[in-house]
Amino acid sequence: MNSLGTTMQVDLLAGTGYRPFTIPRPQPTILVFDSGLGGLTVLGRTTQACPGAHIVYAADDAGFPYGRLSENALIIRVLAVMERLVARFHPDLVVIACNTASTLVLPALRARFAIPFIGTVPAIKPAAAATRSGMISVLATPGTVARDYTRELIETYAASRRVTLVGATRLAGLAEQALKGEAVDDAVLATEIAPCFVEADGRRTDVVTLSCTHYPLLLERMKRLAPWPVEWIDPAPAIARRVADLLSSARQPGLACRDAAAVFTDGVGLTGPLRIALAGYGLAQVVIEPMPLAN
Ligand code: DGL
Repeated sequence: MNSLGTTMQVDLLAGTGYRPFTIPRPQPTILVFDSGLGGLTVLGRTTQACPGAHIVYAADDAGFPYGRLSENALIIRVLAVMERLVARFHPDLVVIACNTASTLVLPALRARFAIPFIGTVPAIKPAAAATRSGMISVLATPGTVARDYTRELIETYAASRRVTLVGATRLAGLAEQALKGEAVDDAVLATEIAPCFVEADGRRTDVVTLSCTHYPLLLERMKRLAPWPVEWIDPAPAIARRVADLLSSARQPGLACRDAAAVFTDGVGLTGPLRIALAGYGLAQVVIEPMPLAN
């Protein structure tokens, strides 16, 4: 039995035709999952929105970057890692804080596990609503920009907008470098974001949606390097609100988040500065659960 969940379904009347009832639990476990460190941008907001929750942050750094994996390989990988994490931490809810995975793997995860999964997908609907020029850019990994899911979001919510899809090959890695305290060259960053800024017919891009959870880690620098000011959309606050709504018993003002832990499937990049950065997110306890990526 899960000892950390927010609710548990108790079916004392199995076979009698009565519906199971729910017992609220005091401290739900929320698992926040990403390929690497980008999910920390979602974790920060989720911790604020659910102060009474037990948080486990899981980084599949052995598989990083997910943007380079084929769709089939990514589905197999995420299911295998999740199998291990669910068995070990018994989460009540999982946040897939990764657009590259969410735009592909959510149906398979929901079919496999009887746990709510909240995904992170490109914020195309809010971007389409926010633009005044009618020109928006989706800054994401090459995997996310290639997804059918992303194309369908555009067709559904932004058919009347001019949408530029930018699959950045280096940005997630640069965000990891920056968080580890390594130098990141402004010129390289500027080159990565440059395709987001489009001018046509006297109009120009005015909204950029950060559709990889790593990118908000570089937001202040990207704002400084942008050729002109735009609205940058970070979906983390909306995801955190959704988590809090689903786990309404997690809102316990005054009850601090306890026992937050970070899990890495490789851990090779766990430098001193990174450990300090993790502690800043409340993740003082770091565990390595080795899961090499199969070739
Ligand atoms: N943080 C992930 C996302 O939101 C992607 C980084 C990667 O390529 O692994 O898409």
